[in-house]
Amino acid sequence: MNKTLNIPNHIAIIMDGNGRWATQNGFERSYGHIMGVGSVKEVIEESLDLGVRYLTMYAFSAENWSRPRTEVDGLMELFCSTISDQKEILKSKGVKVLFMGDREALCDKVCGYIDSCENDTSDNSNLTLIIALNYSSRAELTRAAKQIAILSVSGELNIGDITETTIKEHLYIGNIPDPDLIIRTSGECRLSNFLLWQCSYSELYFTEVLWPDFNKEQYRKAIDVFSNRTRRFGNI
Ligand code: FPP
Repeated sequence: MNKTLNIPNHIAIIMDGNGRWATQNGFERSYGHIMGVGSVKEVIEESLDLGVRYLTMYAFSAENWSRPRTEVDGLMELFCSTISDQKEILKSKGVKVLFMGDREALCDKVCGYIDSCENDTSDNSNLTLIIALNYSSRAELTRAAKQIAILSVSGELNIGDITETTIKEHLYIGNIPDPDLIIRTSGECRLSNFLLWQCSYSELYFTEVLWPDFNKEQYRKAIDVFSNRTRRFGNI
């Protein structure tokens, strides 16, 4: 392990493998999600200890609605109970929580929990935790394109003035730096509609470890690998 770790400013994580972990250990899939909450807590703790400033976690994709109803309902309940259990702890540790995704399809109960969590932690600044919930990167970019088109048609924005910054400003959360490191667990090597605009220069790290087994040590290992990468951003 490097003595002087280069700590990424923003780490994004695709938490994958809860279902396989449960099946392999003789449990229902939903128990894998419950155990996954432990890994979420470990990674948040370690991010605070290491000084990571932004942490984005992919909790539920727009495609996840196609799962069996019981699993979807169980996940929504788990999000509500976890927010309820953790809100005061996160608040006391200086974590600002934001949710990213299409809120229209979320039920009132979930919206209530996420609104209150955002409001109650809005003054914090030690770590910004972004939970991607009902998130789809293509939907995010389509929404941005529509918003920009509306401004253009109404004459508020000249087409010639549209830049990359304009697009960034119309993403769900526009003022967040791009992720330096994207981690995906469970051995799958793809991005699955996650942060497709923001990932342009992100370092990618894939591990075979299933999400409920991902712990502080695994997290440090990913950061260690990142530390040893050379990022050129198109330069030589
Ligand atoms: C992917 O594993 C994981 C999910 C779709 C849900 C992630 C949710 C949690 C870790 C629970 C808590 C999160 C928060 C932020 C409160 P999978 O079910 O696709 O696993 P599989 O590929 O093995 O089936």
